[in-house]
Amino acid sequence: MEILDNLNKISIFFFLLLATSTTLVLSQGTRVGFYATSCPRAESIVQSTVRSHFQSNPKIAPGLLRMHFHDCFVQGCDGSILIDGAGTEKTAGPNLLLRGYEVIDDAKTQLEQACPGVVSCADILALAARDSVVLTNGPSWPVPTGRRDGRVSLASNTANLPRFQDSVDIQKNKFFDKGLSTQDLVALVGGHTIGTAACQFFQYRMYNFNSSVTVDPSINPAFLSQLQSLCPSDGDTSKRVALDTGSENRFDSSFFENLQNGRGILESDQMLWTDSSTRSVVQQFLGIRGFLGLTFSIEFTRSMVKMSNIEVKTGTDGEIRRVCSAIN
Ligand SMILES: *[C@@H]1O[C@H](CO)[C@@H](O)[C@H](O)[C@H]1NC(C)=O
Repeated sequence: MEILDNLNKISIFFFLLLATSTTLVLSQGTRVGFYATSCPRAESIVQSTVRSHFQSNPKIAPGLLRMHFHDCFVQGCDGSILIDGAGTEKTAGPNLLLRGYEVIDDAKTQLEQACPGVVSCADILALAARDSVVLTNGPSWPVPTGRRDGRVSLASNTANLPRFQDSVDIQKNKFFDKGLSTQDLVALVGGHTIGTAACQFFQYRMYNFNSSVTVDPSINPAFLSQLQSLCPSDGDTSKRVALDTGSENRFDSSFFENLQNGRGILESDQMLWTDSSTRSVVQQFLGIRGFLGLTFSIEFTRSMVKMSNIEVKTGTDGEIRRVCSAIN
């Protein structure tokens, strides 16, 4: 009787083991080192390509980080942002100023020579975003790979991309819809520690804020004159200004200090300080006394991994594009 019992236990154990390993095979999410055997040099080829482009043009670092984010928020992280043609995602308003497409194309060309048909454009973009953060002195992290490329890219799908005038509630909802929390929102907006915005996206804050006030009261008065001289009311609206004043080429937490001091550039960024629910996260990243400290660089890497797994296509979904700018 006891032997039978034990046999039952053993068979139940093996059944569970089998069930677990079957699940592991069936749920093919992304994983770190996906190309370790199929294309061992995949990550180093992307890294050296991003580095060489960065050396001649450092602006590609914020460009690639933003491009990955804009890719993930529309149809998931599937390289849909990279497709050329009339009416594709890249032709939509919020994507018109993205830069760095040539870096992805260059990496893909080299990868097709090293391991034809293996590495997806969606993964190249996810890796390039990480490498861009590292090149600007930010943290590094292992990027899970195994994404496959999508076959749909429509400008009409870009409505859920965050916009520079979105209230905190709208920003939060757009992130919640993608499974990202309030903390993820603040951490990922912290990516604005590198990069710039054109005057056209924020000069209304200085010259015609709304029907009752001319100047956005959340702008530090001492900063206002500095900002007005960078973007005169009759100046070139395409001129670009650092999103993190004083530290635009360095990935650090001074972006949050600027928000605390009323020196945010985009209205949607400055609101993260005005709104109490997001302000408390900013305070944690700043290590302000009385708030449980969170380290921005660590939380940023966690939120990046979450974001870069939004609605990913894996296994036999999608395809591995031959050229990143065109569906096969
Ligand atoms: C204009 O902005 C101020 C400051 O944010 C705000 O208090 C006021 O309600 C706004 N007025 C209108 C008409 O939107």
